[in-house]
Amino acid sequence: MEAQIKVKRFNPENGAKPFFQDYSIDVSEDSTILDGLIKIREEQDGTLALRCSCRASICGSCSMKVNGSAKLVCKTRIKEVSPQGETVTVEPMGNFPVIKDLVTEMDSFWSKVKSIDPYVKTNFEPEAEHIASNESMTHLLGVMNCIMCGACVSECTALEVDSTFTGPAALAKAYRFVADPRDEDKKERLGKLNESSGVWDCSRCLACVEVCPKDVAPMERIVKMRDLAIEEGYTNTSGYRHTESFSDSIKKHGRLDETRLALESTGLLNISGLIDLAVIGIKSLFKGKIPPPLPHRPKEADKVTNIAKRLDSEESEE
Ligand code: SF4
Ligand code: SF4
Ligand code: FES
Repeated sequence: MEAQIKVKRFNPENGAKPFFQDYSIDVSEDSTILDGLIKIREEQDGTLALRCSCRASICGSCSMKVNGSAKLVCKTRIKEVSPQGETVTVEPMGNFPVIKDLVTEMDSFWSKVKSIDPYVKTNFEPEAEHIASNESMTHLLGVMNCIMCGACVSECTALEVDSTFTGPAALAKAYRFVADPRDEDKKERLGKLNESSGVWDCSRCLACVEVCPKDVAPMERIVKMRDLAIEEGYTNTSGYRHTESFSDSIKKHGRLDETRLALESTGLLNISGLIDLAVIGIKSLFKGKIPPPLPHRPKEADKVTNIAKRLDSEESEE
């Protein structure tokens, strides 16, 4: 079959801006996008840069954006994304600097993974036996499936606005050690993950869960670590105050009081935070984005408060 592939090209050495180049290639029905790209490189354009190795969704090196969303191109068949012969657009991953064409720079990815201390920390003697239950280790299997492909990082909306955010891959890796029964550094790990750029900076957009080719579900691990951090007593954070204020507002009023949420999340004693918030408030005011100080009570507010109360009582019964 004839496949139409549009590739985003970029070569920093010639000073030209990134541009799209169209290719038409003859491929078999079951060809993957990686097969197509390799064929383009071998038969039509030897200057096309791309990265791959195993061709079997194991090494994690071939993540790219396909029609706007990150995928392993060795796992994705052309037919799957182009059932009627539509053009397939391939770009380098998002949230990564581009080295050339489809090859991205992974340094910041690896330094973030390194920042979470990705190894089991124990105080027991190396020769001593430390038995972990089957159940606790089986629980970790899902997160251990991560192949460090970076697809989740490519799509992360929090990283898009704040490059210092630790990001879904490194945080999922952090969970692998926080939840390991042999690790003796859980409290310290959670304390560190609770700081700025850690677990509370995730916007819970679900993008990382949707694109992960190994079902690692990074966002679910991040949310779990928030709960664990609270259990360990880390409550003096804007993230914790945000969740408390949010649920309190829903339980009491059946709606979200955004002004109160912003103030309480920042902390009423946090003077510099409140000044920053006032600046944002003034800017928002001029753009017409400030909610009314006394928002109206929606018609169905009572139903919402009743649901919240019922959930609360069900939780306390458990
Ligand atoms: S859920 Fe959180 S970590 Fe995952 S992509 Fe969205 S912002 Fe990033
Ligand atoms: S969590 Fe999933 S998407 Fe993210 S690096 Fe690991 S395997 Fe790739
Ligand atoms: S080439 Fe190894 S995962 Fe795609």
